[in-house]
Amino acid sequence: MSSSDAQLVPDAAGRTMELIRAANGRYMATDYVRATVENLAALPLREDDIMLCSYPKSGCHWLWECIRYLVFGGSDIHKTADKESSMIELNTREYIEALKSPRVLNNHAFFDEQPSDLKTKGVKVVFVYRNIKDVAVSYYYHHTRDKTYKYSGTFSQYLQRFESGLVDSGSVYEYLHSWENGIMANPSLKVHVLSYEEMTEDPVRELRRLNDFLGTNRDGDFLQMVAMETSLDAMILKKNKITTFIDENGLPIMYRKGKVGDWMNHFNSDEREKMDKNIAKELGKSKLFKFKDTSNS
Ligand code: A3P
Repeated sequence: MSSSDAQLVPDAAGRTMELIRAANGRYMATDYVRATVENLAALPLREDDIMLCSYPKSGCHWLWECIRYLVFGGSDIHKTADKESSMIELNTREYIEALKSPRVLNNHAFFDEQPSDLKTKGVKVVFVYRNIKDVAVSYYYHHTRDKTYKYSGTFSQYLQRFESGLVDSGSVYEYLHSWENGIMANPSLKVHVLSYEEMTEDPVRELRRLNDFLGTNRDGDFLQMVAMETSLDAMILKKNKITTFIDENGLPIMYRKGKVGDWMNHFNSDEREKMDKNIAKELGKSKLFKFKDTSNS
């Protein structure tokens, strides 16, 4: 359902996408709860909360499932809820406050918009990021398959929009800058940073690191089981994952290919060169984010 203050936001070529503009000027999706987003800084957190943060399409659904397995134990728990049920922007403050502890919350907000309790209550933060060219491809399918955005265009047309930050959560570069600066300026923040590509390369290794960070004390057999149960294949092809967002063909929007390097099937050489230059300019000196070029993998 479209919010009453949604607007059709044009790109430079006049192609529009329906979004909401928050008071700070950043765009959000039309199903976000404005009051929650605009008052996020004051949202009370608890010491045992876990906050999963990412730019959209970076692997948030995957990591959320993994963290829940580690925290709650057991098997088949991916069948019991979907990530959206604890995504802050999609819910009211009352709803978030009524969730039982321990909460595995998640959001796509910039660092400077996070609840102030994040820094003072010792909340554990998991931050996942992804190769930006793959994020662009994944977000393209998100924006064209979810009809609430009322957006259509070719991938090349979309790319200009994405690079200009005219999408929900704004510019991926500004988002990653905000997190890098925030993490560097707050050394006492309990944060674990990982990439989608590292998760794909060796899920058990990354689950072990997460297990150590969260202090969840799961053994090797359990981590192996989680890696299998949270694979895209297990969650989707067996059709046993609850998911809110379904496209017009009945397919889950949040679970698509799950591959590293799908950008190679979408970018032409000019587009690739341009984005690589932008990534090098914006994030080439990052101490936190390592973008492996997947063209040879
Ligand atoms: P693709 O569109 O490239 O397939 P987010 O959860 O942050 O919205 O990210 C969605 C992306 O993560 C989609 O990428 C989706 O297919 C992928 N994804 C979701 N669950 C996954 C899983 N269990 N394993 C690997 N990738 C997954």
